[in-house]
This record gives sequence, structure tokens and C-alpha cells, in this order.
Amino acid sequence: MIETINVSLADRSYPILIGSDSLTTIGKELIRLDFPQRIAIISNFTLDNLYGDAALDSLKGSGFLPQLFNIPDGEKHKSLETLQLIYDFLIENNFDRGCGLIALGGGVVGDMAGFAAATFLRGIPYIQIPTSLLAQVDSSVGGKTAVNHPLGKNLIGAFYQPEMVLIDIAVLDTLESREVSAGLAEVVKYGVIRDYDFFCWLESNVQKLKERDTETLIYAVKRSCQIKAEIVEIDEREGSIRAYLNYGHTFGHAIEKLSGYGQWKHGEAVSVGMVVASKISAQQGLCTAQHVERLVHLLQALDLPINPPNFSLDEYIVSMLRDKKVKQGSLTLVLNRRIGDVTLQKVTDIESTFSSVL
Ligand code: NAD
Ligand code: GLY
Repeated sequence: MIETINVSLADRSYPILIGSDSLTTIGKELIRLDFPQRIAIISNFTLDNLYGDAALDSLKGSGFLPQLFNIPDGEKHKSLETLQLIYDFLIENNFDRGCGLIALGGGVVGDMAGFAAATFLRGIPYIQIPTSLLAQVDSSVGGKTAVNHPLGKNLIGAFYQPEMVLIDIAVLDTLESREVSAGLAEVVKYGVIRDYDFFCWLESNVQKLKERDTETLIYAVKRSCQIKAEIVEIDEREGSIRAYLNYGHTFGHAIEKLSGYGQWKHGEAVSVGMVVASKISAQQGLCTAQHVERLVHLLQALDLPINPPNFSLDEYIVSMLRDKKVKQGSLTLVLNRRIGDVTLQKVTDIESTFSSVL
């Protein structure tokens, strides 16, 4: 059975299709969408070896003309240099404005292929087929596309919505356990920022989530996508509440950058970032120590890190001040009032705010 969630954004609306063993339906789904016949699939060697043929066969079987291009695997390749490789492939193979693009991979492939689709010939339509849990619950939905700069995460990018997101839970079978945990960090985020009941459900389903029970994962992915869709529908370009999705991210991005892209998984860095954000929230009287404890307990149960790596406070501050969420030198943090509700708060004294929780 396929579950559908619609992201309603006027003429940029699109469906998120969630199922198991649904990758092979991509050809049929794209006929329904009237997607361009000529398609560039952007992937990497890991995903191509596992799922490239299934995607290509399904598309060819439905009369499409797909060509697959692999980029190097890993966060350290989420760069302008790799983006250039995608443009080279598209131009050398005469892709034109009548073509479409598919991102087949995790968040790194999705963010880069999405940015290529946004910018190639001023924009061609694209589809997200997210294959990591993190990409299924977060990065494939909402149209944020980007590459990293050596000085900061996702500093070069665009908002560009896909025409469809096709999520096949069965592909998570081949994901490393560490990657499953990293994806679950973003799932926990949705509970903290928006849905207390969902947080409680996660607490009760830790074992099934870790065992990758299909029904449990489908519910976790579906609820996460619903929450993200609701937020993006209200605030597509992060003028207000979309910033809630950055809970734990300012500090998390600093960990990723300081330790060298790829050393820490994005979700792992977000896990520590959420703990730091909740401790600041408790310190400011917004939530209680029990809320922090529950968050820490759930993250630990999901095999996620909760302690920051050993960089100096200065290094963290310099790095956080380069984050794209900084405006006129001032940092706004997402802090939790309790579990299930957050607020945005400008930090006036960054040093004392962070020194007391690190
Ligand atoms: P990733 O894309 O590097 O994938 C993690 C690893 O898992 C890679 O080695 C990948 O090849 C492998 N993999 C993916 N699917 C697999 C599968 N089914 N089987 C086996 N291996 C598989 O990392 P990620 O965690 O998916 O994404 C992280 C990126 O997403 C970061 O760059 C982050 O900034 C970005 N992100 C973007 C948004 C957004 O809104 N655009 C939101 C959250 C995160
Ligand atoms: N992951 C943050 C956002 O999509 O806004």
C-alpha cells in the first residue's frame, strides 16, 4: 500500500509517496506526472550498485530514456567541484530544457542534484528518491538544495521544490546501523519541535525502530513528512516557523565543520546539537531538567551521541557565527519550551550562553 502526503504550495505542490518495495513503480508514477521523457539520474556508486538497475529498468519499461551519472560518495564531496561534474555530464550529454532529473540517494546526492536541477538552464524539473532514513524524513522534502563551502555548511544553495518524492522503505534494509540512528535523530527532532505524542510513541518504539520493522518505520517516516510538510506549507522560505526545523542544527553544523565534513554524520551532530539546545532551554527556564533527561535518554537509546567533541568554546563560536542563520552578527536559537513546542530566541551573549552547557 502506498501512503500519500501532499505538500501544498500552489503551483509548486507535490506528492510524497511512501511505500515498501515501491522503487520499481517509479516509471508508472512518472507517466502519471507527465514527467519529461529524457531523464538524468544523479546517484553514487553505492546506490547505483544496489538500486540503479531497478530504477533504470522501471523507467525504461515505461518508455523513459534515463541516463545515470554517479558522483563520489560522502559529505566531503558535497561541493562546488562535484556540482561542476554534474553540469559537465548534463552539458556533454546534450540535456536540454525539455529534460528532467532524478536524485537517487541520501541527503548529499539529494541536496546536490536538487541544486543542479535548480540552476541548470535556469531550472529543470526533478524528483527525489531518498534512500537514507535521514533523506526520507527530512532532506528530500521542502525544496532546500545546497552545497557546502569549506567555511560553512550549505552556504551555497536555492529553494527549489521537487515534482514528487518517492520513498521506498525497503531500501533502508541495506543502510548501515549508524546511518539509521543518524536518520532517527531528525525523527526525534520532529517530536521535540511539534508533537509530544509522537515523541512518546518514539520512546515506546525504540526497539522496533532499531530492528527496522517495516510498519514502524513507515509510521515514523509518514509522521515526520507530515510535520515537515505542514511547516513548509506555512513558511516555504524560512521567514518564520521553518526555522524550527533547525533545532539543534546551529551547533550541529559547527561540529560537522570543525571535525571535517564526513567525520560526524549530520544526524549525529544534530543529536548533540539538540542536547545542547535543550540544556540552554532549561538554563533559561523554558523547559525543565526532566525534559532534557527524556531527550538525552531517547537519543542514547537510539545509539546517538549526546556529548560534543572536544573543540574550544572559541572554535565553536567562530564556527556558529558563520552559519547562514546568523543575521547581522546575531545568532537566533531554536529553544524548546517543553517537549513538543519550541520558540526562537536571539542570543545576546553567545559566550556565556554556551560556556555554561559545554
Ligand atoms: P549521505 O547522503 O551521505 O548518506 C549516508 C551514507 O549512506 C552514504 O554513504 C550513502 O551512499 C549511503 N546510503 C544512502 N542510502 C543507502 C541505502 N539505502 N543503502 C546503503 N547505503 C545507503 O547522508 P544523509 O544522512 O542521507 O544526508 C545528509 C545530508 O543531508 C547533509 O549534507 C545535510 O546537510 C543534508 N540535509 C539537508 C536537508 C534539507 O532540507 N535539504 C535536511 C537535512 C539534512
Ligand atoms: N532541514 C531544515 C529545513 O528543511 O528547513
